[in-house]
Amino acid sequence: MKQNPKTVRMWMIICLLFSLGLAATENDRDFKMCGTWRHGSAPRNLKYDLRTGCTEIEISASESTLSIRGSITVKCTRSSSVPLNSNPLQNQSDFCVFWEPLLDLLIVEVNGKNHTLCKPKDLQENCCTDLSLGKQKNASLYGIVKGSIHGDIITNNVMEKYAFEGQSINCKKKFCDEAVSQTSRGANMIENVVMKSNTTGRVDLPCAQSTVIEMKEGFTGLNLTLPASRTEARNMIPSVYLPSCLKSATKSKSKVVCTHYKARKLFQGGPSDSTLLDDVVGLSVENEIIKNLPEPVRITFHHLPFPANCSGKCVSWDTRIDNEENWRGDGCNTFNINERETECHCNHLTYFAILVQVEQKATVRHLEALTFITAVGCAVSLVSCLVLFYWLCKRRIGKKNQTSLVHRGLVVAIFLLCLFFILTGTVANVENKTACVITGSLLHYSLLSTLCWMAMEVFHTFLLVRKVFSSDIPPWVFYLGGFGLPALLVIILLSIGDIYGEKKIVPSENVTGPYRMCWMLDGDKSLLAHYIINIGLLAVVVSSGAVMLFLVVKEIHNRPEWKKIHVSFLSIWGLTCLFGTTWGLGFLDFGPLSEATLFLFCIINSLQGFFLMLRYYALERMKKKDDSISDGSSSASSKQHMLQPHEKS
Ligand SMILES: *[C@@H]1O[C@H](CO)[C@@H](O)[C@H](O)[C@H]1NC(C)=O
Ligand SMILES: *[C@@H]1O[C@H](CO)[C@@H](O)[C@H](O)[C@H]1NC(C)=O
Ligand SMILES: *[C@@H]1O[C@H](CO)[C@@H](O)[C@H](O)[C@H]1NC(C)=O
Ligand SMILES: *[C@@H]1O[C@H](CO)[C@@H](O)[C@H](O)[C@H]1NC(C)=O
Ligand SMILES: *[C@@H]1O[C@H](CO)[C@@H](O)[C@H](O)[C@H]1NC(C)=O
Ligand SMILES: *[C@@H]1O[C@H](CO)[C@@H](O)[C@H](O)[C@H]1NC(C)=O
Ligand SMILES: *[C@@H]1O[C@H](CO)[C@@H](O)[C@H](O)[C@H]1NC(C)=O
Ligand SMILES: *[C@@H]1O[C@H](CO)[C@@H](O)[C@H](O)[C@H]1NC(C)=O
Repeated sequence: MKQNPKTVRMWMIICLLFSLGLAATENDRDFKMCGTWRHGSAPRNLKYDLRTGCTEIEISASESTLSIRGSITVKCTRSSSVPLNSNPLQNQSDFCVFWEPLLDLLIVEVNGKNHTLCKPKDLQENCCTDLSLGKQKNASLYGIVKGSIHGDIITNNVMEKYAFEGQSINCKKKFCDEAVSQTSRGANMIENVVMKSNTTGRVDLPCAQSTVIEMKEGFTGLNLTLPASRTEARNMIPSVYLPSCLKSATKSKSKVVCTHYKARKLFQGGPSDSTLLDDVVGLSVENEIIKNLPEPVRITFHHLPFPANCSGKCVSWDTRIDNEENWRGDGCNTFNINERETECHCNHLTYFAILVQVEQKATVRHLEALTFITAVGCAVSLVSCLVLFYWLCKRRIGKKNQTSLVHRGLVVAIFLLCLFFILTGTVANVENKTACVITGSLLHYSLLSTLCWMAMEVFHTFLLVRKVFSSDIPPWVFYLGGFGLPALLVIILLSIGDIYGEKKIVPSENVTGPYRMCWMLDGDKSLLAHYIINIGLLAVVVSSGAVMLFLVVKEIHNRPEWKKIHVSFLSIWGLTCLFGTTWGLGFLDFGPLSEATLFLFCIINSLQGFFLMLRYYALERMKKKDDSISDGSSSASSKQHMLQPHEKS
């Protein structure tokens, strides 16, 4: 093609602007030629003659006609002449010609009114683009002034005609190259083009695959698997559920574009301390910003199992709101279906992706040492519980009272707790889900039972302090509270489902070898159950224990016997408080527990059975001493009352 030196210079300037990034949002795939049409006052019209092929497009203007002709389209063949709204007082009109080759779309805008000469079609594979300035023809009076391409003036002269020569290229590939070079903006470009096209169903691009769905009246929701490129395995493709609430009530039809991107191509990779899973799903409805859906959009991602110290989290980024790469967690809930599947429930529409976020918090230091200490402590406790249980049974033969009943209940509960704690690791390694759920629920049951029996001890002490004779309360009340209530709670949790199962605790020393145990899962439901039931019950036990301590001290510290027994009394109550505090430490999880606290927690808790035995032994000794001291004293009956409360503790 021939170009005069002036145009060459101008193109050089444009190229320079491009390379400086000033024109970075423009591209030479789309074509936009604008100018001012200087015309006469007579009625005017727009004449066009468009044919398929790829040679050139000619834009010319005369006194009464603006004319577009040439062959650059793939499918559109149209020729006609349309009258324009002519104001006789006006002697010039602004106009623009838009050519979107990917969609075979040609629009002429005259005086702010769009005339679509070629309507949008499917995305075209081969199209006529890279339009470059060819022949021009000078005019004297009527014609085009200030002709410009993408806003850059070609010349200020009055021209009769501009011709632009096109080249046939692979449009989809070129479009993708542009989109990829713009990274995140590219995702918007793709969605906009697909939304504009007259397609429904599948749209294939080298950089993304879309499905266009038309929601008509009575849309009831839809499950769909996103399209995949040919090289991808079908079972790794994300799937989407579109709820019925996506369809706006005011429109009879709305179009949804679901696009499947590869993050590696279009997104940089999320926050610095995490990586983006390669699948990214984009969803848009008629280019609107959709928020606060009453029913969430569900997107299921398939992936390889995450490393043990990492977990997946659904995040989204609305590129229409944030220009900077900004992945947010709000608006989406993450559901880990299994180790290879993660589901995102989101109440807004943007681009979705799962970030594999490295979770520091999940690792525990010195886990091996801690589990060893706990196992040894539990073994000691098991033996202590057996011994204590034997003592209590022997004593029962002599003295039949509910004090030993409550003690025995607590001993059995702690015995079960230690037993299931030792079993839970072993069962988890068998990798039988049912067995793990059962063991997890039994471990939880024995924990709740331990807490409930502690509550029973407090309750029993209360009765003694208030001088209610224990025989007034039938034993089944204690059994119901200590064994029945936890059973009821666990059965309710089991019927809800998804509460118990395998839990992995990752030692920081070896993230590839997590410690498995059967316990409550990490899901929302289990956490809720943990906070309401475990923490709630613990709070009740500890606070009622504290109230009881206060009551007992208030009730008996004026009596003469107090001096004699207050040391043992306080030590016993202190022990109970210690129980409460350590359990509390473990449960409330105050930020990162210091290592010393963690060790203390494991030691004291696992040795609870042993401490129980020590406490009982101390009590028995104390009682014998009291008995010998008070021999022959006149207050034998009041002593009887005193002993029971303090021994109760
Ligand atoms: C067009 O009209 C304006 C006033 O509306 C006038 O100043 C100008 O000279 C006219 N141009 C031509 C080419 O007639
Ligand atoms: C005409 O169409 C072009 C290209 O799609 C668009 O940029 C422009 O805003 C439209 N103008 C009007 C008045 O709708
Ligand atoms: C758009 O698609 C519909 C059906 O898919 C068709 O009936 C209509 O003619 C198409 N419009 C254009 C401009 O191609
Ligand atoms: C058009 O006319 C201008 C002067 O009015 C002249 O400089 C230019 O070279 C001419 N261009 C062509 C293509 O004839
Ligand atoms: C979509 O799939 C889910 C689970 O696969 C199913 O429960 C639901 O009924 C399905 N919805 C529709 C509209 O097909
Ligand atoms: C998680 O594990 C990987 C691989 O074992 C390791 O490279 C990474 O540093 C670990 N991250 C943390 C926070 O422990
Ligand atoms: C788990 O063990 C039970 C009983 O041994 C058996 O019936 C069940 O099939 C096992 N489940 C799995 C997933 O292996
Ligand atoms: C980490 O744990 C895995 C699995 O239990 C084990 O195979 C591996 O040897 C352990 N590595 C170290 C350094 O202990």
